[in-house]
Amino acid sequence: MGRKFIYDQLVIASHNLGKIDEITELMAPLGITVRNSVELQLPEPIEDGLTFTENATIKAISASNNTGLPALSDDSGLSINALSGAPGIYSARWAETNNGRDFNVAMERIHNELIKHDDLTAQFTCALALSWPDGHIETFEGILNGKIIWPPRGTKGFGYDPIFQKLGDSRTFGEIEPMEKQNISHRAIAFNKMLESCFLQKDD
Ligand code: IMP
Repeated sequence: MGRKFIYDQLVIASHNLGKIDEITELMAPLGITVRNSVELQLPEPIEDGLTFTENATIKAISASNNTGLPALSDDSGLSINALSGAPGIYSARWAETNNGRDFNVAMERIHNELIKHDDLTAQFTCALALSWPDGHIETFEGILNGKIIWPPRGTKGFGYDPIFQKLGDSRTFGEIEPMEKQNISHRAIAFNKMLESCFLQKDD
């Protein structure tokens, strides 16, 4: 069991609007005032960790240090087995272009690198880090298995959603309603672990 969360405010330590929306929705039932790094104009720390969990920890601690508030960060990405786990922690970086992030570029690159492979299996991973102003940190991970499909389909999600199909589903994440994704995603899996560990504890 993790440390119980007893604050009425929390900073979502992210500059990614898609993630901020999803996490804000997931936090809504808890009745906690949610702020975020964009609104608070927090600096973006250098993500030089080697795992999703290390990078999530860097982001959460940076937001807590800058605000004196507890913070929640998400580091997530798509790992493709035939590409030795790439893009993995570099999922956002694969989309960098001179004109900002373009996930069509990243999805094309995946498609081109996968052409010579038969194995299309992949995972979305989400690591959450919850940090306290005193430096305490709790981390949680959610993994969702699926496969890469081509061409991309659907416009309802963000990032790599149009080329990811969850195991046992015939729709891409770009084709499912955001409300449904909220319940089944890698982020939801990690989030539920966090709720159970830090938010829904009964008082002793
Ligand atoms: P970071 O965690 O901000 O470094 O970025 C992770 C990147 O992984 C995001 O910019 C997305 O491109 C991708 N990603 C993470 N979660 C999802 C998701 O639920 N759907 C689609 N792409 C995702």
